[in-house]
Amino acid sequence: MKILVTGGAGYIGSHTVVELIEAGYDVVVIDDYSNSNPSVLERVQKIVSQNDSADCGEISEIVEGDVCDYEAVKGIFDRHDIEAVIHFAGFKAVGESVEKPLMYYQNNLGATMNLIRVMEEAGVKRIIFSSSATVYGMNNEAPFDESMPTSCTNPYGWTKLMSEQILSDAAVADESFRPVLLRYFNPVGAHPSGLIGENPRGIPNNLMPYVQQVASGIREKLTVFGDDYDTPDGTGVRDYIHVVDLAKGHVKALEWSLKSDEQGCAVFNLGTGRGTSVVELVTAFAEINEVPVPYVIGPRRAGDIATCYADASRAEKVLGWKAEKNIEDMCRDAWRWETGREQ
Ligand code: UFG
Repeated sequence: MKILVTGGAGYIGSHTVVELIEAGYDVVVIDDYSNSNPSVLERVQKIVSQNDSADCGEISEIVEGDVCDYEAVKGIFDRHDIEAVIHFAGFKAVGESVEKPLMYYQNNLGATMNLIRVMEEAGVKRIIFSSSATVYGMNNEAPFDESMPTSCTNPYGWTKLMSEQILSDAAVADESFRPVLLRYFNPVGAHPSGLIGENPRGIPNNLMPYVQQVASGIREKLTVFGDDYDTPDGTGVRDYIHVVDLAKGHVKALEWSLKSDEQGCAVFNLGTGRGTSVVELVTAFAEINEVPVPYVIGPRRAGDIATCYADASRAEKVLGWKAEKNIEDMCRDAWRWETGREQ
């Protein structure tokens, strides 16, 4: 069975391609390498070639292209018998989205709409969409569950929420079209092989890559954004989830979607259901990896909420999926990747 993965060379995409292949699926990847590079997929090949199970799938084709490009996407559906799509491709930097909102709307919404159009023409009815816990906005109280009202505070978040809306409207218009919306909490860590992981360009926006760079001496110290939140130690609380668990959640969602006869759009949180503060994460990273991570306390970052963690029970009940790795696994694998990779 062949699955199209958009953004398959990206951080979450590449880990999902590994899990799909190991679960026996063949994969076609489209990626424009705007925030990744072709060597990622070579390393994905290396990981799966080390698995000698006869049931593994393979990468059928890698297309260097933009998901907004109709001809590029159409060509894939002409050449392959695609059963379902997993759609990761998109810009994801919150701060940049505030500076360049049109670029974000054009790219992220354009890609979602183009995919739906080509899928409709090809008669493909299953899509798993990469959404975010950011859609729970500032006004809900954790744990967040899928029925809570949604809102956003920045254009990146709006592109996720608007894509959810577009997919959900398309499912109303065609009841055989069955999108699955996966709302991720905070993906961290790397593949235990040390061959793939997150490698942000420039100064990292997110906590874990920043901590990795401080630990390896690329940056002098971490600034903790605020220690006066209403949380146990005053620093922000998030639901960190190992990227391999997250990738496995996609395979479960895909399997469920292919056999489910439930109509409409399905929504699932992918998180652990546990909150960890900034200082807890930094301390755990330093202890587990026996490496200093100096930090100072700075002011709050605009748009941050105090506490964000998932009610992850729906994914467990319906998909039979739950996160299995803990903070120690996340910190260890992130550090193995940071120290082992070719820079
Ligand atoms: N933080 C610091 N210092 C840093 C970076 C982050 O103290 O240098 C803190 C933040 O204030 C926050 C926590 O670390 O309390 C996590 O911050 P991240 O930037 O790693 O993650 P966010 O929770 O802000 O954002 C993530 C994703 C978004 C997504 C959002 C959904 O990056 O794409 O979760 O809740 F929209």
